[in-house]
Amino acid sequence: MQKILDAILAGDLDSVGNLPVPESYRAVTVHADEVEMFADRAHADKDPRESLHVEEVPTPELGPGEALVAVMASAINYNTVWTSIFEPMDTFGFLRRYGKTSPLAKRHDQPYHVVGSDLAGVVVRTGPGVNAWQPGDEVVAHCLNVELEHPDGHNDTMLDPEQRIWGFETNFGGLAELALVKSNQLMPKPAHLSWEEAACPGLVNSTAYRQLVSRNGAGMKQGDTVLLWGASGGLGSYATQFALNGGATPVCVVSSPQKAEICRKMGAELIIDRNAEGYRFWKDENTQDPKEWKRFGARIRELTGGDDPDIVFEHPGRETFGASVFVARKGGTIVTCASTSGFMHQYDNRYLWMNLKNIVGSHFANYREAWEANRLIAKGKIHPTLSGVYPLEQTGQAAFDVHKNAHQGKVGVLCLAPEEGLGVRNPELREQHLSAINRFRGV
Ligand SMILES: NC(=O)c1ccc[n+]([C@@H]2O[C@H](COP(=O)([O-])OP(=O)(O)OC[C@H]3O[C@@H](n4cnc5c(N)ncnc54)[C@H](OP(=O)(O)O)[C@@H]3O)[C@@H](O)[C@H]2O)c1
Repeated sequence: MQKILDAILAGDLDSVGNLPVPESYRAVTVHADEVEMFADRAHADKDPRESLHVEEVPTPELGPGEALVAVMASAINYNTVWTSIFEPMDTFGFLRRYGKTSPLAKRHDQPYHVVGSDLAGVVVRTGPGVNAWQPGDEVVAHCLNVELEHPDGHNDTMLDPEQRIWGFETNFGGLAELALVKSNQLMPKPAHLSWEEAACPGLVNSTAYRQLVSRNGAGMKQGDTVLLWGASGGLGSYATQFALNGGATPVCVVSSPQKAEICRKMGAELIIDRNAEGYRFWKDENTQDPKEWKRFGARIRELTGGDDPDIVFEHPGRETFGASVFVARKGGTIVTCASTSGFMHQYDNRYLWMNLKNIVGSHFANYREAWEANRLIAKGKIHPTLSGVYPLEQTGQAAFDVHKNAHQGKVGVLCLAPEEGLGVRNPELREQHLSAINRFRGV
């Protein structure tokens, strides 16, 4: 591994394909024999630092259409939090089911799960049938793993019945020194960014792009008013940029003055601090409070000068969904990709049907959407929202921070990269956008 790293650091990328691939590598894993370890703990007390291990695992055999990538940096996504606390279920069920689909997929069914759904790094080897990518290419990877043997996925690959999220529903993810991907997950690494900056947008940027911008999601247009929950978080920090970039007006919901400030720095003007304003959409575990929906809607109108949201960008789920359906404008769209606070949503359907609103489900992004989202990063039109970086050994702490909502934007992880700031190939473009690239740093 050291020889591969030395070649990358020396810029000798042509030699990477000729260097031997190590038989094992360091990776962040969860263990199948530990999935019950938090069984008697409350959600908030389940601790990723106890369940995430950093250990040596065997290098998987490379199959047709696949690539082995030397991972310079990766990032924490909420799916790694879910995996590490074994909620809503442990991920070994995904690996077992995948393993049954073919002899090659059987590789993924192991007693350990190498997690992580983002990477920036260098292609080390490609399998048979891969022509678009070569060893030595500097890449990022999106996390759509898709078989495409069925007709259903051929208009939109997210609809393929064998669609999986790499590093969550498959093994050999990005929080490691090596990663196994399908070659159609690869995209060019934005040249003006360091490894850790390039690694952090992938999953959330692509998801936010489909959810908000793509016609497969809300199809945002200029002039739209967009209500964004968690506007400074992983998804929200990209959705806020897409709204501003696309001529819409974001109404950013956050939970602290620091988070409000970072939204202002991105260029948003309309901000609601949900903590300071004390919204309590639920009177108790089973009863919502429509008066609070109305108070929230009135506040949005006060900020917008009377407009209701054309689009509500949803992911908190149970806690906010009733309010989201209520505040969307007549004919508006509530687009949801998650349920962080609980997946059994409750809303008053009268507001939906009488006002002809739409609820749209959205999940990750197809290759085209991920490519377009990455292209916006590469052109310096959307910027990474990296707030802090941990070494691979401290991935548990990084996931803990995200679990506790103690972070801003994205939290990065250095895998092979020995320090931050390496891998920049276009310093001129970087210089033009330096303050935007560093906006979330150390907040
Ligand atoms: N389907 C997909 O493809 C996909 C892709 C990416 C993520 N996700 C899911 O989307 C969710 C968010 O991911 P993320 O990366 O954006 O996470 P994140 O970085 O933790 O940001 C989420 C933000 O949501 C806000 N929030 C959390 N709980 C809330 C609540 N009860 N009420 C209101 N706001 C709340 C918080 O912001 P404030 O505290 O500032 O309000 C938080 O910063 C996760 O469940 C994740 O698994 C799904």
